[in-house]
Amino acid sequence: MSGRPNLMTPELKANPYPLYAELRRNAPVSQVDPGGMWAVARYEEGMYVLKNPRLFSSAGFGLATNPPWLGGNPVSQSMGAMDPPQHGRLRMLVNHAFTSAAVNRMEPRVRAFAQEVVAKLPLEHPVDMVPAFALPVPAFVLGNLLGLDASLHSQLKRWADQLTSVTAIRPDETERQEPVRQAVADVRRYFSEVVERRRREPGEDLVSDLLRARVEGEALTDDEILAFLFLMLLGGLETTVHLMGLCVLALMEHPDVMARVRADRSLIPRFVEEVLRTGAPGHGLLRVTTEEVELGGVRLPKGARVVVLLGSLCRDEALFPNSERFDIDRPGSQLPFGHGPHFCIGAPLARLEARLAVEALLERYGGVSPGPGPVVWHRSMVVRGPSSIPALLHPA
Ligand code: HEM
Repeated sequence: MSGRPNLMTPELKANPYPLYAELRRNAPVSQVDPGGMWAVARYEEGMYVLKNPRLFSSAGFGLATNPPWLGGNPVSQSMGAMDPPQHGRLRMLVNHAFTSAAVNRMEPRVRAFAQEVVAKLPLEHPVDMVPAFALPVPAFVLGNLLGLDASLHSQLKRWADQLTSVTAIRPDETERQEPVRQAVADVRRYFSEVVERRRREPGEDLVSDLLRARVEGEALTDDEILAFLFLMLLGGLETTVHLMGLCVLALMEHPDVMARVRADRSLIPRFVEEVLRTGAPGHGLLRVTTEEVELGGVRLPKGARVVVLLGSLCRDEALFPNSERFDIDRPGSQLPFGHGPHFCIGAPLARLEARLAVEALLERYGGVSPGPGPVVWHRSMVVRGPSSIPALLHPA
């Protein structure tokens, strides 16, 4: 490795794994671009960071998602950017919407919708599997949860793409900044209207719940609710769309696995777990040091921006023998959903969505192969996944 690697180059977005392996071996805590962040590549140091919010504050997420050129971003005020104990109070309020029981109740609706989506896919004709397959189910689920208008689903994804690209834009890339500023303004306006509407006409959705909720006797402010909705757009939509896309790529790359999972559908959850581990759609976790601290033999100053490379931790040989191998027989792991106080609140929901979407796809199609054109990878520090997958579907 020569010089500081830039994690946002298209080559590294498409395949960062050889670099991660080298970082784990030779430079487990080292500076990377963009922005000279300190990248943590190994499981041991990564877990230390995630378990110690007092030293490694999630304010780092707030800093990275609201650079000076943006001029404000509600997600940087969300619970994703908070530390205990403030973080726990907000998290308690939304927890109930994400329990396994609440998620299981959604299963019949999500299954029916996934089957409808899959039935519309063309056979033996080129199709981009991201808008056609990966997006609709997560957009439907998020829309249902928040009570949003179904006609806005593809707009939600365009907004989420812009919002997650914040972490990949340099201060001098002025032409890429305007669309992001516009997206923040549009999402703010749209979600503010949703909150207003629910205040007038409360329903059985999470926004109405948040309006009714009280923390130590106090109602949440509109800004707090808005910040949470922004967080759901990034945490709930973008990651899950990426997971669906990564599932398609894994089926394409491993036809033997596809045949095995088709023959025994009870293997689908294991397949999804291995896609989560090898693809790590939640890819970089952002923190900032609250004081000078030593990590992996490296002294980090107070205020150092840190990115825990979850995608690298998920391939650490210390935890996963033969880590580069796609192997659905290995035990599943919670690691792709993070660790510590910010552990993903939507993990059961994401697993359910992926299981049902893959089930629907395998029921109807016998194979999937690359279509014309390259797979394009989304540019973001926090998530990783394809934004376009040209494919051909073959009959069962
Ligand atoms: C494949 C899908 C998903 C992956 C890989 C994923 C991954 C993650 C990870 C790694 C974190 C920890 C962030 C950190 O420590 O800084 C996180 C947090 C979070 N996720 Fe997910 N997520 C997924 C789906 C979802 C879904 C479906 C929802 C909700 C609908 C959701 C909502 C959230 C929220 C609200 C947080 C912040 C929790 C907190 O700050 O306490 N995620 N997610």
